[in-house]
Amino acid sequence: MEKPFILHMLTTAKNLSPFDVNMAVDAGWVSAIPYTNIEASEVQGLVQDVIFSRSAKNLKRTSIFIGGRDTKQAMDMLRIAKHAMIPPFQVSIFADPSGAFTTAAAMVAAVEHELKQKFNTTLEGKNILALAGTGPVGQAAAVIAAKAGANVRIIGRQLDKAQHIADVCNCEFGEGKITILAGADVDKAEYIKTTDVVFATGAAGIELLSAELIASAQQLKVAADVNAVPPAGIAGIDAMSNGTPITDSISGAVGIGALAIGNVKYQTQNLLLKQMINCEKPLYLHFEHAFEVAREYIKSTQKSS
Ligand SMILES: NC(=O)c1ccc[n+]([C@@H]2O[C@H](COP(=O)([O-])OP(=O)(O)OC[C@H]3O[C@@H](n4cnc5c(N)ncnc54)[C@H](OP(=O)(O)O)[C@@H]3O)[C@@H](O)[C@H]2O)c1
Repeated sequence: MEKPFILHMLTTAKNLSPFDVNMAVDAGWVSAIPYTNIEASEVQGLVQDVIFSRSAKNLKRTSIFIGGRDTKQAMDMLRIAKHAMIPPFQVSIFADPSGAFTTAAAMVAAVEHELKQKFNTTLEGKNILALAGTGPVGQAAAVIAAKAGANVRIIGRQLDKAQHIADVCNCEFGEGKITILAGADVDKAEYIKTTDVVFATGAAGIELLSAELIASAQQLKVAADVNAVPPAGIAGIDAMSNGTPITDSISGAVGIGALAIGNVKYQTQNLLLKQMINCEKPLYLHFEHAFEVAREYIKSTQKSS
């Protein structure tokens, strides 16, 4: 008899995200088992408990998901889990802390698509402001965009916190090959004058960019907002906006709202969860794979429309 599909879902938090549980089961994982309050030091033992209880054939029906809130911790746990495998006893792993990797990937892929469609350009060399980019979604978006060649500045209310986050992004996720800068929120009126792209990645229900600041953004092309809770993170961008012109923009910028990004995020997470079900060799998935999948998903919707 074939064994059921089991996804072991690790989180450093008190609870596993119900969103991630629904996503896992809807993607075809029959059992989504939570392990909560997990510390990095416990990962090796848990992984080895997973891999030695099934034959190599049935390990293809077994994977690990890493949640939590902290992007660096999740990437560290992914590395530890990968190193704990003992071939041929190995399983796939997918890290998506706080949904941040798939949300950020969806946002950056949607922005890239609008840059191409409306401005016939790419992320390469674009000046990006990641407003409230100090949270998990902002960090991942900053790294993905910087790896695609953009000049990214993470903005936060406190410059030293934003600088610390930018340093973590550069060293931990960029392997020192990217240089994300930091800035203070009080200076955004100055930065916006030379900004091509805005990511609004703040906590829910907080406006980060006013209509007045949009009107002063002389070279703004695309502005994306992940916050679905009113008021919008960027004035004038509806949650459903998907490449919609922003009324107050003097540069013809377009907006992408939270629900448009949410749709790509949903599809991306679903496809990555399915990849682990269908793969022949173990996969180790994080924000870079999420970005590839989000790009492919957007491309596929263009072909079918
Ligand atoms: N559309 C989707 O599919 C989707 C999916 C997942 C998440 N989300 C949304 O994505 C957004 C980002 O998520 P996250 O977990 O990365 O966010 P987060 O960690 O909760 O917050 C991000 C940053 O917002 C800033 N912030 C918090 N309170 C603020 C306030 N009162 N005024 C101004 N700034 C404030 C903080 O930056 P500083 O302290 O450095 O200023 C914080 O680091 C949230 O709105 C979430 O709901 C959307």
